[in-house]
Amino acid sequence: MRAMTYRGPYKIRVEEKDVPRIEHPNDAIVRVTLAAICGSDLHLYHGLMPDTRIGHTFGHEFIGVVEEVGSSVETLKRGDRVMVPFNIYCGSCWFCARGLWSNCHNVNANATAVGGIYGYSHTTGGYDGGQAEFVRVPFADVGPSIIPDDIADEDALLMTDALSTGYFGAQLGEISQGDTVVVLGAGPVGLFAARSAWFMGAARVIVVDHLEYRLEKARTFAHAETINFAEHDDVVVELKKQTDYLGADVVIDAVGAEADGDLVQHLTSAKAKLQGGSPVALNWAIDGVRKGGTVSVLGAYGPIPSAVKFGDALNKGLTLRMNQAPVKRQWPRLFEHIRAGHFRPSDVVTHRVPLEHIAEGYHLFSAKLDGNIKTLVVPGA
Ligand SMILES: NC(=O)c1ccc[n+]([C@@H]2O[C@H](COP(=O)([O-])OP(=O)(O)OC[C@H]3O[C@@H](n4cnc5c(N)ncnc54)[C@H](O)[C@@H]3O)[C@@H](O)[C@H]2O)c1
Ligand SMILES: [Zn+2]
Ligand SMILES: [Zn+2]
Repeated sequence: MRAMTYRGPYKIRVEEKDVPRIEHPNDAIVRVTLAAICGSDLHLYHGLMPDTRIGHTFGHEFIGVVEEVGSSVETLKRGDRVMVPFNIYCGSCWFCARGLWSNCHNVNANATAVGGIYGYSHTTGGYDGGQAEFVRVPFADVGPSIIPDDIADEDALLMTDALSTGYFGAQLGEISQGDTVVVLGAGPVGLFAARSAWFMGAARVIVVDHLEYRLEKARTFAHAETINFAEHDDVVVELKKQTDYLGADVVIDAVGAEADGDLVQHLTSAKAKLQGGSPVALNWAIDGVRKGGTVSVLGAYGPIPSAVKFGDALNKGLTLRMNQAPVKRQWPRLFEHIRAGHFRPSDVVTHRVPLEHIAEGYHLFSAKLDGNIKTLVVPGA
């Protein structure tokens, strides 16, 4: 089969690989019909994630058709169209039993630190991902769902990560009626978090980024006010000015480890790797939220500690909430919103590339060229 493979930082190729086989009775093999490139894939592409091995196939956002099922699979059969959450989880361990599906204890040798994720290095289990023609789906009775007939493929695809993650970020913010919500980052995750904040009662939603074309999307798609941080000496001061000098009720970090906006932090993280990511966005969140407010962290950070303003968070009495999104938990509500016509998730998609040209897709996304927001990958095109 054809599959995207990692060859080292900034280098990926499409190569011939063996079609995955059933390895466990509860596995399914899925023929991928549509995949996507996520902001998290950029951390791998840039070589920032430990134990990203040469030959690994990325891709944790995908839908497809069941090709084959193992002998114990009961809920799926060959030919079913399925959406597969990015988390791999057993459904029955102590953590899964409590709905902590992104923190499953049974799917990753590093399970004390992180759960299982498709195509996300050996740190998260070493599972090959869905930027390929076929993918092995473990615990096939647990993660995947059959795509309802009235849900469009691209919308179902976005529910396997970006949309569910953004919605989850708004949930973690514990938004109350009338709240002012600031979202840092106008990538797909931030755009979906901003849009979701309205569903939860926000009275104002402000999106911060430095890419004007993405802020434009935040205004049109998420109906948000916007701040371009490159236009301000100190974006936190600007945020305070716009929120009665007290700060926002909720700030959502949808940026993560590769945040721009502070050269020293950038050099000590991405370049010298002294920190598990630049904490610029996280510190803006801690500074920009009001006392007693909530910071919701979706942005991904590496395992090494970063210079986070923890003392300020303590002294301000903040609630800090974070996790890898337990994706499937958000699906029932999101189906309702989509069916009610509240929004169309695929409006954030800007590019669709054949799998054979995926390297170009990564480059456009990484360098933020050609108005790129979200790239879909089409195997067999
Ligand atoms: N927790 C989860 O389950 C989960 C799931 C998916 C993605 N993520 C993470 O969410 C983050 C966003 O993903 P994405 O796909 O939207 O990525 P993206 O790269 O498209 O978006 C990130 C945006 O942040 C902007 N940005 C950079 N520095 C900033 C700063 N200091 N302040 C405000 N904005 C800044 C960039 O210009 C960019 O538009 C990534 O870190 C990704 O790894 C987490
Ligand atoms: Zn992702
Ligand atoms: Zn589990």
